[in-house]
Amino acid sequence: MALVILAAGQGTRMNSDRPKPLHTLGGVPLIAHALAAGAALEPSRIVVVTGHGAEAVEAAVADLAPFANCVRQTEQLGTGHAVLQAAEALEGFEGDALVLYADTPFIRAETLTTMQAARAAHDIVVLGFEAADPGRYGRLILQGDRLERIVEAKDATPGELAVTTCNSGLLAADAATMMRLLRAVGNDNASGEYYLTDLPALAQAEGLSATAILCPEAETLGINSRAELAAAEAAFQAMKRAEMIETGVAMQAPETVFFALDTWVGRDAEIEPNVVFGPEVTVESGARIRAFSHLEGCHVSAGAVIGPYARLRPGAKIGNDARIGNFVEVKSAEIGEGAKVNHLSYIGDAEIGEGTNVGAGTVTCNYDGVMKHRTIVGRGAFIGSDTMLVAPVTVGDRAMTASGSVITEDVPEGALALGRAKQVNKPGLAVRLMERLRAIKAGRKG
Ligand code: UD1
Ligand code: CA
Repeated sequence: MALVILAAGQGTRMNSDRPKPLHTLGGVPLIAHALAAGAALEPSRIVVVTGHGAEAVEAAVADLAPFANCVRQTEQLGTGHAVLQAAEALEGFEGDALVLYADTPFIRAETLTTMQAARAAHDIVVLGFEAADPGRYGRLILQGDRLERIVEAKDATPGELAVTTCNSGLLAADAATMMRLLRAVGNDNASGEYYLTDLPALAQAEGLSATAILCPEAETLGINSRAELAAAEAAFQAMKRAEMIETGVAMQAPETVFFALDTWVGRDAEIEPNVVFGPEVTVESGARIRAFSHLEGCHVSAGAVIGPYARLRPGAKIGNDARIGNFVEVKSAEIGEGAKVNHLSYIGDAEIGEGTNVGAGTVTCNYDGVMKHRTIVGRGAFIGSDTMLVAPVTVGDRAMTASGSVITEDVPEGALALGRAKQVNKPGLAVRLMERLRAIKAGRKG
């Protein structure tokens, strides 16, 4: 199976400089949803057809699906023309091609599998749906399970417009057959475009067969405007919350929790209200994410408690039973089993050993203005409140730092490091000083 994902269109109605496939839904670009659904078919090739904003779309694809191939459609001459741009990339490929749109994010993997199965009996399989309001959609002209042809709304007769079974845009066929038929598609129609939807009729003229399978309309929802994107986000979140509840995740106010497409949370994990998950977060069973926390690109192990008001950034790995408390930010750092960073800290580019306690206000000074440096703290260590760990620096197992220390040199195992000015007490000076200041103020008034 090869996927051909159409992503060249301008998306004028988004009213945006950003190419439509890169607008985010569930924390990831729209095109990531199409790639994720398609991934369920274990495609051996992926071809993405780019056009508007090609460079940005291609960069995102390289990131999301490194083995995908991008081909450019320099002029948007229609969906048939777009798919034909994949011909060269699929030269010699033996197998099916499935056409997907980058702006249709809700197609379920199961639906694609059903399309694939239907290919056993038919040369062309189109995905259709019963439209509540058929509007601009292409109409499927069916005779039983035979798909005679697809007629675009602009080209339809009043009788054809009355048909409510519509084209989702997805189409599967043998790749070589698809490309051969596409070369015969013309643009003599109301839009002057090369329609992919001409394939069923062309196939039948050659004695090949075409059929349609239907899915719920909600799956075929396309994104054309910001209003539709916002509605899609709401639908996505509702689905993801329901899925989480189904898998045994505890949430008191699921309507206030926001997930990303790939958020993974284990059974019996608890998520308090107002938590936001960015992409690439995994939370193990029995972990607890407390209110108003923000997580992205991180892993939280079983028994750990995060927040309230914590921020986990990419590369944060929180060990079993560890604690990350209020106003703590963790980035590219491993927090060992049972370690605690409970208050007002920044831990970045670091390793904190098992059972270590990091006091309030501790900061890993990881950035010198040009480069990032690592901080390594061993096991069972005690970092006093308001310690500045100036990286690169290592604090050994069971070592301590005195509160208020600026640690610029490595601390050996078991040592106590004091990195602050020595305290001096001046007896009675506070009172004398205050009296003098008050006298000065009184003198000025007089
Ligand atoms: C298309 C179908 C229509 C179907 C509808 C479902 C055709 C001729 N019509 O219409 O039957 O009901 O989708 O939403 O196929 N694209 C390109 N290059 C192009 C043209 C389009 O990459 O030259 C991409 C767009 O970016 C988009 C997708 O193909 O992701 C669909 O294009 P769009 O113009 O939205 O097609 P519709 O007119 O909506
Ligand atoms: Ca469309």
